Amino acid sequence: MKKVLDHPLIKHKISILRDEKTSTKEFRELISEISMILCYEALSDAETYDKKIKTPIKETIGQVINEDNYAFVPILRAGMGMVDGVLKVIPTAKIGHIGLYRNEETLEPIKYYCKLPKNIKNKEVIILDPMLATGGSGSNAITMLKKEGVKKIKFLCIIAAPEGIKRIEKDHPDVKIYAAQMDEGLNDIGYIYPGLGDAGDRIYGTK
Ligand code: PRP
Ligand code: URA
Repeated sequence: MKKVLDHPLIKHKISILRDEKTSTKEFRELISEISMILCYEALSDAETYDKKIKTPIKETIGQVINEDNYAFVPILRAGMGMVDGVLKVIPTAKIGHIGLYRNEETLEPIKYYCKLPKNIKNKEVIILDPMLATGGSGSNAITMLKKEGVKKIKFLCIIAAPEGIKRIEKDHPDVKIYAAQMDEGLNDIGYIYPGLGDAGDRIYGTK
């Protein structure tokens, strides 16, 4: 299951992100803004509860969500670039971290870190990673969360390759992917094309 955003503003922001001349500062800001919009979209099915409130004019019934139900899990390191954007949408969410990097030859994800919030199994978990390429890292992160007992998982990415979407849909058909953009495919070294290059390097200014 996937939802790819289709909005002129998103297309505009992604075009700036892709440009190799975009500075580290602007790149970070755009990742953050697009992440906020993706998170807003991912919460469109959030359960709401009635709550009695008093406006300066009269009493009424408003709808609220239970912010405690949510946790964000960025995949290190590039996923960290999305955290401040999604926290603008749910500021009280707990945050876990999964550390994975791709072996540059085999493209297989290597795990190096995992620290998750208490009671994560009772929360809806929103995984953050700007790039869904082969889908190996995303699929592994979802498997790790499922092993902890998490039942509701969503996956937010800025750019997805069709190969990555196919992999997640095959391995985890219950996980909905929210992508700001779907690209053409992967090149022979596993990079998304046209893509934006190495998201981690561009967020942190390494390389
Ligand atoms: C990038 C990206 C994803 C992964 C996607 O991370 O942020 O985690 O590659 O590729 P896949 O879908 O083929 O697994 P990378 O391994 O470059 O690590 P980094 O975030 O530390 O730069
Ligand atoms: N990881 C990235 O950062 N970029 C890609 O194009 C693929 C994987």
